[in-house]
Amino acid sequence: MIFEEERLELGGREILLRSPKEEEAEMLLEYLKTVTGETRFLMCESDEVTYSAENELEFLKSHNESENEMMIMAFVDGEYAGNCAFEMVTSSRRNHHRASVGIALFLKYTGFGLGRLLMERLLARIDEAGYEMSELTVVGGNDRAYHLYESLGFKECGRIPNANKYDDGTYADDILMVRVRP
Ligand SMILES: CC(C)(COP(=O)(O)OP(=O)(O)OC[C@H]1O[C@@H](n2cnc3c(N)ncnc32)[C@H](O)[C@@H]1OP(=O)(O)O)[C@@H](O)C(=O)NCCC(=O)NCCS
Repeated sequence: MIFEEERLELGGREILLRSPKEEEAEMLLEYLKTVTGETRFLMCESDEVTYSAENELEFLKSHNESENEMMIMAFVDGEYAGNCAFEMVTSSRRNHHRASVGIALFLKYTGFGLGRLLMERLLARIDEAGYEMSELTVVGGNDRAYHLYESLGFKECGRIPNANKYDDGTYADDILMVRVRP
């Protein structure tokens, strides 16, 4: 699915939201390596991002071309700031009503409302696409993300204690959150 380009202002900055272009695969891969290194709240360590630019290209093409997947990229004053995306949780027919959601911004673009803006746009598209539920996992301690999701209608529905063990020996929970289409 293609997100129709949108331009707006947020906190005095110019925002552009749009779907990815095929020539941005390499940039998206570099972004993934950077953001996973900036926070302990994403799915893996930076050195574990082993996708190739070809994998990334397939990923973005499938999101643009599919009827039930979408990626929205955000640019702030012309610079790439991060993205959010949804896809089916699994390809099994019995799971077709469940969308899996992900979002990550570069650290320098966090904290001024861009995450909320992106999530609002994404959830509207998820609802329009016919999904009944949106799901995500948030790492315990990621209070900003938890607050954001809760304020958008997600509810905590399970927690795996110490699901994440970091290289420094510390742990963090995985919290499962679900939003039912209003
Ligand atoms: C999580 C993330 C997407 C949120 O986006 P953001 O643009 O930084 O967040 P926003 O500025 O839109 O703020 C979201 C809300 O959290 C609130 N908030 C900020 N810091 C907070 C904290 N420490 N505790 C609780 N709430 C907090 C904000 O006040 C805002 O709420 P409000 O709109 O009701 O005032 C973004 O920070 C990010 O990409 N982080 C790194 C990767 C990540 O953690 N991804 C999510 C994985 S589940």
